[in-house]
Amino acid sequence: MLNGKHIVLGITGGIAAYKSVMLLRLLVKAGAEVQVVMTPAAKEFVTPVTFASLSSKPVVSEFFTANTGEWHSHVDLGLWANLMVIAPATASTIGKMANGIADNMLVTTYLSAKEDVMIAPAMDLDMWRHPSTQRNIAQLQNDGVIIVSPGSGELASGLEGKGRMAEPQEIFQEIQKYFSKKQDLKGKKVLVTAGPTYENIDPVRFIGNYSSGKMGFEIARELGKRGAEVFLITGPVSLDTPKTGNIERTDVTSAIEMFEQAKSKFPLCDIAIFSAAVADYAPDKVSDKKIKRENEEEMVIRLKRNPDIAAYLSSHKNNQFTVGFALETDNEISNAKKKLESKKLDIIVLNSLNDPDAGFMKDTNKIKILSKTGEITSYDPKTKREVANDIIDAILRYSK
Ligand code: CTP
Repeated sequence: MLNGKHIVLGITGGIAAYKSVMLLRLLVKAGAEVQVVMTPAAKEFVTPVTFASLSSKPVVSEFFTANTGEWHSHVDLGLWANLMVIAPATASTIGKMANGIADNMLVTTYLSAKEDVMIAPAMDLDMWRHPSTQRNIAQLQNDGVIIVSPGSGELASGLEGKGRMAEPQEIFQEIQKYFSKKQDLKGKKVLVTAGPTYENIDPVRFIGNYSSGKMGFEIARELGKRGAEVFLITGPVSLDTPKTGNIERTDVTSAIEMFEQAKSKFPLCDIAIFSAAVADYAPDKVSDKKIKRENEEEMVIRLKRNPDIAAYLSSHKNNQFTVGFALETDNEISNAKKKLESKKLDIIVLNSLNDPDAGFMKDTNKIKILSKTGEITSYDPKTKREVANDIIDAILRYSK
């Protein structure tokens, strides 16, 4: 199952380090090649010899081996790893990772890791729920780190509550899931529209909307990670292009520009995901000079209809699977159903603006997916990254 996979297993100084012996055994038995990296504090809990014998590799802990002067390259380790797993991850290591404090071999390896990093936090319940820890966790999530949430139960301190490291078996399953999901879109080409559009009024003003582009970028990121070739066409956003896999980004400003770019990429694609908040109307005339204030109390800007990118492309399908979004404030299901049908989409993702966990500028989202076959699936509130994976899973399920 994990044959040929290179895993860096980072171990930090928490009592749960003893459970990582079991995790290492599971990984090795599944065929993974594992390099253990320990922080100096971790060695106070479990001896490196245990990990070295189970992984058949010397444990790396310092930048140099003291007696030989051999240099351990964190950059090489970061390149070698297909996945880095830090279990247990203490509050201290989580804080260092969130802030880039590279004062040991483990955190420098984290900063050099080219592939994904998964952490299994372990600490006392007060430390876990401290705002500082929660801030650092949110930062790491934002940086793309996969968090295997701690469980609730009896803690080493004798207290009861959340903070106990997930069981080795559970972390192992997350690792297996990570690798089995990874390449399920290999060979697929996917068009993603994202962000708002800006419709110029004059050289300094425009009609726009509050879309941050986060949902579309998370979708592109996860598609790239799962092996797809992605054409990401985005309106004005302040987001970096995800670095996962093969993502070609095209920046546009107006709906017309987005339409032209989407039309040129659509015929190459197997799937199209329309997550952009496209302006439905644009000023009829764009003034080439800044419009001056007149003495009138009112001013009228005439608007003309923009093309509906999702509707146009879905009715010019050549077997593509198309996905739309509906952001509704009222009669959500019936409005979403109408959009699904009128735009000839295969599925539509509904977010309700009434929901405190959903919508523009947020990192979380709560969705329902409606299919043209009449099914409605409701999901719990999740991060936009998790939602992106739910949407991709639904696409794969419905396009079979
Ligand atoms: N969409 C599009 N081009 C447009 C308008 C919308 O591609 N000109 C796409 C969006 O990307 C989204 C879906 O259509 O996937 C629904 O967008 P939405 O703005 O909610 O729907 P509208 O049809 O514009 O309806 P309304 O604004 O009246 O709710």
